[in-house]
Amino acid sequence: MTRKVTKAIFPVAGLGTRFLPATKSIPKEIMTLVDRPLIQYAIDEARAAGIREFIFVTSRGKGALEDYFDHSPILEQELRRKGKDKLLEVLKSTNMDSGAIAYIRQHKALGLGHAVWCARRLLDPKEPFAVILPDDVIAAEKPCLQQMVEAYEEHGGSMVAAMEVPAEKVSSYGVLDIKEDMGDMVSVKGMVEKPAPGTEPSNLAVIGRYILDPAVMNNLNQMKSGAGGEIQLTDAIADEIGTERGVYGYRFSGQRFDCGSKAGFLQATIAFGLSRDDLRDELQEYLDELSAVRAAAQ
Ligand code: UTP
Repeated sequence: MTRKVTKAIFPVAGLGTRFLPATKSIPKEIMTLVDRPLIQYAIDEARAAGIREFIFVTSRGKGALEDYFDHSPILEQELRRKGKDKLLEVLKSTNMDSGAIAYIRQHKALGLGHAVWCARRLLDPKEPFAVILPDDVIAAEKPCLQQMVEAYEEHGGSMVAAMEVPAEKVSSYGVLDIKEDMGDMVSVKGMVEKPAPGTEPSNLAVIGRYILDPAVMNNLNQMKSGAGGEIQLTDAIADEIGTERGVYGYRFSGQRFDCGSKAGFLQATIAFGLSRDDLRDELQEYLDELSAVRAAAQ
């Protein structure tokens, strides 16, 4: 029997340089898709998967993130006074229970593996944990982490979310070397972070959702420097291959947007806008107009 996954780590200490100058003063995770910051999508997904404790690994300049999850009594009082009950509900949905959220600092951006390791003292040494990268936003009928928790309860081990990516993009990802393909699940015999073009073992890439055995945290203690001179989470997971626990890739169902890149962020904005009843018609009309203008120009 696997232990229940109730804690998730959100590594948000990166510099977000691809969004400069905006990220000079706004944490990337506070940037909004329609009207909700990226971090809210990640928290909602975690909650749906049964996560009860939320650990943020932050860095200097991320104060807006802490404020975002705080209660806002003056704003709430004002909305109540004006009878804006719907907005009040929206606002309250961002509140976190006291003690459910913890912030820890990564003092130097030494890599994703190092960021996860910074949270080690907040976990029970026997407890599996989830890691969510809020840059990866996944639109899915059943939230991605929930799909993974269900699969994890059957298989145990360490599990990464996996997705087929086009050959020309695969070298930007951690890539799986597949031992056995079982459909939604693959067992893994190797993992390479950012393989040189042409050396990738498959086109099945790791994206930002993980359920990890506590042994991965021990592996991170070795502080191995990996691709790009960073301490890579992929390497610490790869050290689990060949143990009795093993490593699995999970082909989730849903659409993933790389909101750490500008193009991905814009695509997500359009997709989430089109999924909203209050915005769909107006936005679709605009998109149709744009394509008509483009067609006429050709
Ligand atoms: P990215 O590779 O997207 O880096 O990190 P970044 O700094 O956020 O953005 P760019 O590339 O400069 O635009 C992937 C995830 O890992 C976290 C980031 O916050 C992001 O959630 N991370 C990365 C850390 O928390 N610490 C690190 O040292 C590196």
